[in-house]
Amino acid sequence: MKDAMELIKSDYFIDLEHNYGAHNYHPIPVVLESAKGIFMWDVEGKKYFDFLSAYSAVNQGHCHPRIVDAMIKQVQKLALTSRAFHNNLLGEYEKFITQYFGYDKVLPMNTGVEGGETAIKLARRWGYAVKGIAENKAEIVFVEGNFWGRTMAAISSSNDPSSYAGFGPFMPGFSLIPYNDLEALENKFKSNPNIAAFMFEPIQGEAGVVVPHECYLQGVRDLCTKYNVLMIADEVQTGLCRTGKMLACDHENVKPDLLVLGKALSGGLMPVSCVLANDEVMLGIKPGEHGSTYGGNPVACAVAMEALKVLTDEKLAENAEAMGKIFRERMENLMSKSNLITTVRGRGLLNAIVIKPFGDGKSAYDVCIQLKDNGLLAKQTHGDIIRFAPPLVINEDQIHEACDIIEKVVLGLEA
Ligand SMILES: Cc1ncc(COP(=O)(O)O)c(C=O)c1O
Repeated sequence: MKDAMELIKSDYFIDLEHNYGAHNYHPIPVVLESAKGIFMWDVEGKKYFDFLSAYSAVNQGHCHPRIVDAMIKQVQKLALTSRAFHNNLLGEYEKFITQYFGYDKVLPMNTGVEGGETAIKLARRWGYAVKGIAENKAEIVFVEGNFWGRTMAAISSSNDPSSYAGFGPFMPGFSLIPYNDLEALENKFKSNPNIAAFMFEPIQGEAGVVVPHECYLQGVRDLCTKYNVLMIADEVQTGLCRTGKMLACDHENVKPDLLVLGKALSGGLMPVSCVLANDEVMLGIKPGEHGSTYGGNPVACAVAMEALKVLTDEKLAENAEAMGKIFRERMENLMSKSNLITTVRGRGLLNAIVIKPFGDGKSAYDVCIQLKDNGLLAKQTHGDIIRFAPPLVINEDQIHEACDIIEKVVLGLEA
């Protein structure tokens, strides 16, 4: 039980945000002050399992000492040059990351959504310069339920009213087909010779961890090749070991033409994103035609290299795969005992459960509040889904302890 002073402390910070910040989020009411590995502490000193990982940005665990060290060393030496000048880390980082993922070139940006924007610009340019699409006729195909950020381009491709409603007019040249539907994709490709790219998430994160059927990724790859359309994989959330492989596309050994990465590329320390592609695509953009003041800054380069090294050195893909299996087994077992859970799905440590409305109009949000009170932080999406995505450094004892909390909360709410 919190005492009066503690209540005042939390409420004070929540009130500050409410009074002085835009109301564009509806956070779980917890005020965090510090974090380490898989745990976070609030301003009252209460400890929580982090089962969101800042939407998969903190795959390597909070404040990973090696990444923090790389950041501190670089920030004390040279933080920002802009791309008006060269710096001694950018080229080294570019060589490192292109060899790491097997592409000719990288274009560094900051946030995930900027990565998506960049991929679309590269694809449109390729469409005109290489594919021979007539000026301003290029079309990019997306899937229903996509989420890749909040810019005008991103919401122009969205079919979620909470993303786009009230923000028109929208960007032209985008179209939507159902997710996980290869027939719809082929029909789309057949219907229009001006399609430059198909952009999609190999597992849809914000849509509620929607996993496509086996062979979908291979099918997408084959159709993109057959119809001379660029395959853009948005792995901002699914990439970097989250789903039990370095990339979600690796589950089917498929290589996209453009790969968008972000979030965990910095281990959660700062916004770092990028697009990887081969020369035919990447060299379409010429000096002065695209960029970002902070993109490719020396701190980002140092941090991203260390963040990628940690993923391999600590075998985080293997751990995500193993811990994910245990997690889903536990949740499936819970589902067999509970009427509240209707679905368990996911891959590696990107998982979700679907909650049936219960009590007096209660749903996933109420479960998240109870989880918080019991020491585990997770966030609902779309009202009825809870995503569970802990940092990938979680071990077996910890995953069981966390599952015990989820089990206690779900069975308790049902009773
Ligand atoms: C798949 C995917 N792409 C892009 C983004 C946008 O990333 P950012 O919020 O860093 O702009 C997100 C954010 O959740 C995402 O899940």
